[in-house]
Amino acid sequence: MIEVQVDDWLRELEARHFANLRFSEVTRALRALSSAYVERRESALADHRALDGAGKRAAFALYYGPIHFELIRAITERLTAASDAARLAPGLVLDLGCGTGVAGAAVATLTTPRSRVVGIDTHPWTLDEARFTYRALGLQGEARRGFAGRTRIPDHATFVVGAFVVNELKPAERDDLLRELQAATARGAAVLIVEPISLRISPWWEEWAAAFLLMGGRADEWKLRVDLPPIVKRLAKASSLRPDALTARSLFVSKPR
Ligand SMILES: C[S@@+](CC[C@H](N)C(=O)[O-])C[C@H]1O[C@@H](n2cnc3c(N)ncnc32)[C@H](O)[C@@H]1O
Repeated sequence: MIEVQVDDWLRELEARHFANLRFSEVTRALRALSSAYVERRESALADHRALDGAGKRAAFALYYGPIHFELIRAITERLTAASDAARLAPGLVLDLGCGTGVAGAAVATLTTPRSRVVGIDTHPWTLDEARFTYRALGLQGEARRGFAGRTRIPDHATFVVGAFVVNELKPAERDDLLRELQAATARGAAVLIVEPISLRISPWWEEWAAAFLLMGGRADEWKLRVDLPPIVKRLAKASSLRPDALTARSLFVSKPR
């Protein structure tokens, strides 16, 4: 069932972004986007240039979207299978720095029944894109503009996910977010933070890992082989990218409710 919906989502995603762009334009933008993320991270992110222009947005949605969806799904499955206490409860998933909405959607589609999802992001373009993702995957969801560290996590949130966003926060916002996540955990929400494996951009990692361990959580590193959809493989090949094994690090905490 979920596989069918993922296929529908990907078909609609391609139609949406290739309506006004050629494959070669998206490929060129993907090269620029991946170099902005990897090599020129600080300057590109500081002024939000990473998502400038239709080409880069399409590349972000078509390439990183499905990769992050599969990655978060695989990590969440492994973490929640590992212990009874970490069982996935249906309810409300809050996705901080939601981008195209894929991380929250990945978690929400793993619960039975499916969870409702709320995505929060500062970038206006992402919000419509996240709404599209929720709709295409048959999820009840909404997306709102907001800052991750200034978002009050609802008391009834069952799962909070932040994928590849904490490294984009300023130190003060990051500190606020950690306090808010600690409070949400105490109220019974599960929390999952996922970041790139490289610690160069996350000097705060050890401090956060210590805080998660203190809450009874865990820190993991992942190297996962995930079957990626054809559009990702085609874009990767044309852009000389190699997403064969997906790597990431995560922090996770889940207490019995
Ligand atoms: C690398 S993208 C990751 C998006 C998505 N979570 C995923 O896994 O595909 C980072 C996202 O965080 C958003 N972002 C950056 N700073 C933020 C902040 N202070 N509060 C909320 N979102 C933020 C960006 O606009 C962008 O959409």
